[in-house]
Formats: sequence, C-alpha cells, structure tokens
Amino acid sequence: MADKDPIRVGILYSETGVTSTIGLSQLQGALLAIQEINEAGGVEGREIVPVRHDPQSTSARYAELAEHLIVHDRVNVIFGCYMSSSRKAVIPIIEKWNKLLFYPTLYEGFEYSGNVIYTGAAPNQNSVQLAEFMTSNFGARVYLIGSDYIYPYESNRIMGELVLQRPGSEKLAERYLPLDATEKDYGAIMNDIREKRPDFIFSTVVGDSTAALYRAYADAGFDPRTMPIASLTTSEAEISQMGHGVATGHFTAAPYFQSIDSEANRQCLARLRKNFGESSMPNLCWEAAYFQTHIFANAFRRAGSDGIAELMPHILGSEFDAPQGRVKIDPSNHHTCLYPRIGRVDASGQFTIVRQAKRSVYPDPYLVAHSLGDCTAKLETLER
Ligand code: ACM
Repeated sequence: MADKDPIRVGILYSETGVTSTIGLSQLQGALLAIQEINEAGGVEGREIVPVRHDPQSTSARYAELAEHLIVHDRVNVIFGCYMSSSRKAVIPIIEKWNKLLFYPTLYEGFEYSGNVIYTGAAPNQNSVQLAEFMTSNFGARVYLIGSDYIYPYESNRIMGELVLQRPGSEKLAERYLPLDATEKDYGAIMNDIREKRPDFIFSTVVGDSTAALYRAYADAGFDPRTMPIASLTTSEAEISQMGHGVATGHFTAAPYFQSIDSEANRQCLARLRKNFGESSMPNLCWEAAYFQTHIFANAFRRAGSDGIAELMPHILGSEFDAPQGRVKIDPSNHHTCLYPRIGRVDASGQFTIVRQAKRSVYPDPYLVAHSLGDCTAKLETLER
C-alpha cells in the first residue's frame, strides 16, 4: 500500500471529560473497522489513516476541532460526536465547508442535514418501543430525569407524549441536573421520587453522572422489579462505571447489546478483544461507530473519491452486515434502518434481551407515523 496515497479521515470522539467512557468505546469501534479495512488491502490499495483529536466532551472544542480537521488536516469526512450539543456545534462547520459527518449516536430526531449520515437510533426505533414496553409492564405514571442539554429535553418531551397516550398516565415530574451532577445531587431527587411513587423512571442522564443516578437509586433502597429506570443511553459502558450489581434489573432500549446471540456479533467482539484487550466496553455507540466506518469505505470503493458529491450516492441506500443485523442507510432522510431491542441488566452488567424486532425498522426521525399501538415493528418476546 506504500506507493498509493493514504485516505485521511477525521476522528472526533471524546477521550477525556464527562462522556469519555462512551467516547473511547466509539473510538475503538472506528479504529477496529479501519484496521479491518486496511488489513484487507485498504480501499483500492489505499490505506485509511485516522486523524484523531480529543474534543474533551465540550461542544466548543468539537466545533474548533472539526474546522481544524477540515482546514488544517484537509479531511473530507469526519466520524464523531456523542452528545447532541456537540453534533449541533459541528453541523454548521461541516455545512460551511460542504464536508461529511458520520454520527453514530442515538438522538432526539427532528433533524436533517444533507452533510450528515445518522447511524444511531431515531425515536421511532427506541423511544416508541420503550414506552410501549414500560407502560404495558409497569404502568404509565412516569418520572423524567435528564442531564441539562438538548437531547434530554427533547427525548423527555417525546417520551412524555408517548406515555400520555395511555389511560391512567401521568407525568409526575421533569428534572434536569448538570453533566457533572453527583450522587448527592441525585439523592435529593430520590426523596421526591419516594413521595411521588412513579411506575417507572425515564432517564436521559448521560456520561459519568449516569453512575451517580443509579447509585443514588440503589442507596435509596428502591426496587427495580416494581419501579425500574428505563433509558436509551445507559449502556454496558456506563454500567461498568457503577459498581457491581448497581444497575441490575433496569431497562435500556437499543439496537445493539453485547449479548446479541449471533455469529457476526461474536466474531466482531472476538476481533475487538484481540486488538483492544478485555477492558473495552462495546455498546450501541461502539457498534454504530464500527459499522458506519465500513459503510464509508464500501462507498468510497464504488465512488473512487471521498468528496461528498461523489460519495453520497453510494452511501444512500447502502447496506452492511453489522453485529446487530443487516443495516441500511435510508436515502430519503440519511438515517439508518436498525433493529429495536429492549434489554434488562443482569447481575454481571450485561443485558438480557427481553424484546427484539424481527426485521429492521425504517428511521422516522420526525415521528410522522408512529404513536403507541401504531408501532410497525411489534417486538418479539424472547424467553431467556
Ligand atoms: C445524545 O445526546 N444524542 C445522547
């Protein structure tokens, strides 16, 4: 490969700061895919070279580094961002220079940029299924807790609207705490929860403070069998920060869990462990960061260029056998067809998958068609 120009791609995943546990796992997903592509001969004999910067979990750094990658490092494509605030900071830069961002994180939906490919779940691929599951199994009196930024505000709004379609429903409270909130801060909310007795808690808390929330819940002596926490962001990575057993019995909706019982998933996890060791924490955002990098490389192979005009027609409609199943980029809205699943945390910090879609679900980021009871993918119940 030495005689051909390498292809430089930008990587913006936080390696430090409040979302670095998940950011580092996203980085590993991207690096694993790049390694696989290069070991298989690169793209038409050209090696992919990651140009990597650490935005330190702050939106302003994401925006600065996106511009640095484009202007100084001269990349055409950037893989990155976790918090929606960071994506919203990067999009104007990407659009100004007409470059491409691959975004591997679930988010609140209601967005489209012709310069972004969204490979995490939209609300019709996680919130709708989670609302249906939680209200059917526990009841419709919900207590909403989030970190203080855009994804939690919007995701809680959507969850509130979905739950309120149920008889007997009630939104008991909607509380926001800073990204660096402590267990003590969440302890005060637990006192309120003790009084209001919701049927379930919906958490849109992200990053390091996720552990503080779940620990405060455990310290309060609550029982997940009768009043669990449900989330879209509490993954194997956050659970690993909590301490043994703290998250057991709580629920998360996601297209990917480490525990997916398929050959494709097992093989991918084995390659990850071989290259990055046993301490890596694969999760929904790791998997999206992994498969989107392969989708890029396959599109580049067909386009012969990573210029957005040449590349985009080969990304839209493209498919890939990801660890979660065969995914597809929807040409009409740039989001991804994914497999909704619901997992309950077991005693080892892994998820027992209790519901899953038989087929992938088209992304509907504007929730045009989806309401409770109108969910196109009724989830299959798994007996495990
Ligand atoms: C998120 O902020 N999209 C998790």
